[in-house]
Amino acid sequence: MLLRENLGPADIDRLVDEENATASRLIFTDQAIFELEQEKVFAKAWLYIGHESEIPNEGDYVTRNMGTDSVILSRGEHGKAHVLLNSCSHRGTLLCTADAGSTKGFVCAYHGWVFGLDGSLKATADDMALYDGKVDFKTLDLKTVARADSYAGLIFATWDDAAPDLSDYLGDARWYLDLYHNRTPGGMEVLGAPHRWVVDTNWKAGAVNFGADGPHAVKVHGPITAATFGMPPQAVRESLLYSPAVSMGNGHNGILPLIPESLRDQVPAYTGYPPELIELYEQCLTPGQQELSQHLLGGVQTMFPNFSSVQAPAIFNPDGVPINLLAIRLWQPISATQMEIWNWFLVEKEASDEWKQASMLAGVRTFSAAGTFDQDDAEAWVGIAKGIAGQQGSQGEMNFQMTLAYRDKTIPDFPGPGKAYPSIYGEVTEFDVLLEWQKYMSA
Ligand code: FES
Ligand SMILES: [Fe+2]
Repeated sequence: MLLRENLGPADIDRLVDEENATASRLIFTDQAIFELEQEKVFAKAWLYIGHESEIPNEGDYVTRNMGTDSVILSRGEHGKAHVLLNSCSHRGTLLCTADAGSTKGFVCAYHGWVFGLDGSLKATADDMALYDGKVDFKTLDLKTVARADSYAGLIFATWDDAAPDLSDYLGDARWYLDLYHNRTPGGMEVLGAPHRWVVDTNWKAGAVNFGADGPHAVKVHGPITAATFGMPPQAVRESLLYSPAVSMGNGHNGILPLIPESLRDQVPAYTGYPPELIELYEQCLTPGQQELSQHLLGGVQTMFPNFSSVQAPAIFNPDGVPINLLAIRLWQPISATQMEIWNWFLVEKEASDEWKQASMLAGVRTFSAAGTFDQDDAEAWVGIAKGIAGQQGSQGEMNFQMTLAYRDKTIPDFPGPGKAYPSIYGEVTEFDVLLEWQKYMSA
């Protein structure tokens, strides 16, 4: 293992090799690199915190993580969302130990200091006058993030004063987020608390895979993919092989699997969507977004660094109709070789209660701790950690060289912004997640 003090700028610059489309295996195993990325990536980038619908009312809160720090997302006065470091300003104790709730403020369990929903110190142990005027209590508010903002119901925050605005950070990715999060006037809502489970592998395994990895869908998930989508395996392969993968800029990437041309006369437009909402999609989406959405066989995205989503139309009953699940998730870093997945299901606010239930069930069966796809993925990703743990296995590179064949091939008349590549097999967008990571690590 590398020692942190031995990691010079030249070593850092070599971790991801853009020209050869390879990355050092150490970035998935080395604890010194992990600690450096907490400073360079997780303390700098905009990170996903939670959904507006999780804290609808004043006093609502949830606890989350930004990198390895615990934070509180609270709804304060006038509907303002606050993101507070979950560490008491007295001696550092974890302030809020609940996952979610509603409160007037936060009381530390150790000496009883009290903080408002905006993090301001309201009271110390016993009488504040005991400090005899010697302490400026304004300096003892909870630490707050440099900025918090939201897009399409998704709340992000950053510790970095110098970070660009969220709208610039997301940039062209907003057009693609709209396909899933901004397609009805009411927007999306979260269905219940997050499912959380620990996987013994580096968080980037998930971020890269959702950036996204096409070929694994027909290998690791082969029979499950075909069965879930109600399509012959060959059609799934054709969809992945000839559908677009998009580099949206700033390390945000995704794939847009489309219903193969050969099946379009058998598959109605907007398959997997609630039919009664199609009119709303046509109101909210641009013509280019509609053109894609009509033929989407789901979609997978990673917003740099660790926020991803997956949509898929699932069929569980041979006589039933496909039902879209939409999962959003965080790849939460714990150590160089361990992450916790946080996974939520979303659905249109305007959907019927029956549809919401069915969509959530489709999600639980596929993309969740017990989901078919996640069990497959966890097996493969833990396999990476095992395969590169040893003295020999940790040497050498991770290979993304399908990139060499595809990176200069873009679709000229693609309806969306960014760079669209003609195959989900291309590895270009997966590798782009690591190129952005390299930029942050080298800065
Ligand atoms: S550590 Fe919180 S009140 Fe003392
Ligand atoms: Fe997968």
